[in-house]
Amino acid sequence: MSVKHGFIGFGNLAKAVYQGLKQEENIEFAYFARSRKEADIPYYNKISDLVAFADVIWLMVKPQDLSAVLEELTPLDRSGKTIVSPVAGRNIAFIERYLGTGQLIVRIMPNLAMAYRKSVTAFVSNQPDNGNASEIFHLLEKLGKAVQLEESGFDLFTAVFGSGPAFILSFIQIFKDKMQEFNLPGSLLDELLLELTQGTTLYFTQNQKNYSIEQLIQNITSKGGTTQAGLDYSRTHEIGKHFEGILDAARNRSEEMSKNGD
Ligand SMILES: NC(=O)c1ccc[n+]([C@@H]2O[C@H](COP(=O)([O-])OP(=O)(O)OC[C@H]3O[C@@H](n4cnc5c(N)ncnc54)[C@H](OP(=O)(O)O)[C@@H]3O)[C@@H](O)[C@H]2O)c1
Repeated sequence: MSVKHGFIGFGNLAKAVYQGLKQEENIEFAYFARSRKEADIPYYNKISDLVAFADVIWLMVKPQDLSAVLEELTPLDRSGKTIVSPVAGRNIAFIERYLGTGQLIVRIMPNLAMAYRKSVTAFVSNQPDNGNASEIFHLLEKLGKAVQLEESGFDLFTAVFGSGPAFILSFIQIFKDKMQEFNLPGSLLDELLLELTQGTTLYFTQNQKNYSIEQLIQNITSKGGTTQAGLDYSRTHEIGKHFEGILDAARNRSEEMSKNGD
């Protein structure tokens, strides 16, 4: 018998989950949103119909829209159903305030690479021993790496793995801006940078078991050479600290959102 998954909201992340899982057997999908989207899965124009359909209900709306959705869910029959929430800065207690402590809730923090089954996803549940919660964990393992994490770790995890792709891309953008000097078309610069990042990832992948990151950097660095010059600049100017600042700012914002409910 197939398990029915219903998305409330069908934006970037819901589409990524669907893309990552659509080849799976014994899973059916449908969604509800305030307006119909381009999608090859059924659309329900009433939230109550989506909830009646679904065994697993994914809360795929922005943090500021979550309360309105939870208010609509409160009076509906949700017995035996699993609620999955990737909503940043909204903890399990926040959802329980609307749906009750008896509701099975799984909080996750994924990223958009779910579409390619390459997400790194944190998982926590208010009923960790419930078999339906374990089912969700197994599903997340299919969408990349999944890790069980204390809820107190979610703010930092959100900064590193939820926002992380944007931070890494913004670093690549700095390289691209510098390469404007070459007078090459922007699309070619993107291709070259893609090759650079893929090559670096492959180098990391091939050697990660036997070498630390420090050793891998060392392998590219000759004494007194160009890499050494760049790394020395980075150390003198404490660039690492600034990078840490990016992650701290994101983590602080996640903590703030959790506290203020904004
Ligand atoms: N994107 C990421 O990389 C990422 C990573 C980790 C976690 N998250 C979390 O995932 C959640 C979704 O993010 P997203 O990027 O997918 O957002 P998104 O692209 O903006 O999609 C949000 C969806 O919610 C729908 N929606 C808004 N209000 C609604 C309501 N009252 N009832 C039903 N549907 C409603 C919107 O469609 P209508 O306006 O037509 O209703 C839209 O389909 C966020 O809470 C975010 O914190 C996202």
